Amino acid sequence: MSAKIISGTEIAKQIREELKAEVAEIKEKHGVVPGLVTILVGENPASVSYVTAKQRTAHDLGFHSIQDNQPDDIKEGELLDLIEKYNNDESIHGILVQLPLPRHINESKVLYAISPDKDVDGFHPVNVGKMVIGERCFLPCTPHGILEMLVRSGVETSGAEVVVVGRSNIVGKPIANLMLQKREGGNATVTVCHTRTRDIAFHTRRADILIVAAGRPKVITADMVKEGVVVIDVGVNRIGKTPEGKAILCGDVDFDAIKEKASAITPVPGGVGPMTITMLMKNTVQAAKQLAGIA
Ligand code: GUN
Repeated sequence: MSAKIISGTEIAKQIREELKAEVAEIKEKHGVVPGLVTILVGENPASVSYVTAKQRTAHDLGFHSIQDNQPDDIKEGELLDLIEKYNNDESIHGILVQLPLPRHINESKVLYAISPDKDVDGFHPVNVGKMVIGERCFLPCTPHGILEMLVRSGVETSGAEVVVVGRSNIVGKPIANLMLQKREGGNATVTVCHTRTRDIAFHTRRADILIVAAGRPKVITADMVKEGVVVIDVGVNRIGKTPEGKAILCGDVDFDAIKEKASAITPVPGGVGPMTITMLMKNTVQAAKQLAGIA
């Protein structure tokens, strides 16, 4: 049997419709227009394409949006000053610095400089700490998007064996944490596998829900999953270019083989990617409401 395809594109579209209505309402009732700045340092092609997609979505939703491009050789102090400028700008509610940053810049220092109230990426330690103890905060966009996909697709997470492959700060650690919280989309029993795990397949074969953010193309093969598993593929690997110069993408799982065994699976592209961007928009609306005192 072929798996149900969990379309991030479709779910994201639905959430964007909801957000569009919310943006129109807060604008009309309170005169508040959500403001988002995305700061891009250098010209990494993947980062350029992510930031462009974020800006396009913000614009479509009626946000006040600024794309702030900075040269590769910007000094750390200059970047920190720029963030401080946006921290103090009342028309801006969300600040995103696209990662990775050039090596001469201390990433933690930059992320810590963003006001936690405008940290729509959910990377500031104040928000990370609140997430861990289950307090209201900005949730990191990719894990937040995964939760929404599972909940809106009717996947039962309570009591489920969830296996996460990857332990990054952006995906692996936060999704593992969120799925064990006492909340909708949580209450799971969570195992995290990483590069030092002795036998990854032993764990992945036990998974009712398998979340893969390994950053390597097709590392999860069909023999590593059980019948009926729900697979969330976070990988975005550029494996070539079309004759027109467009990137050819594939995920971290062997989609074609695994879809014959899984009960549900996310595609790449069109799975987690559109959800990540949409949750950034949701966080920005939340930030605007909180900063305006209408949340
Ligand atoms: N680089 C890869 N993913 C992300 C993300 O979610 N936010 C930011 N700021 N940079 C990223």
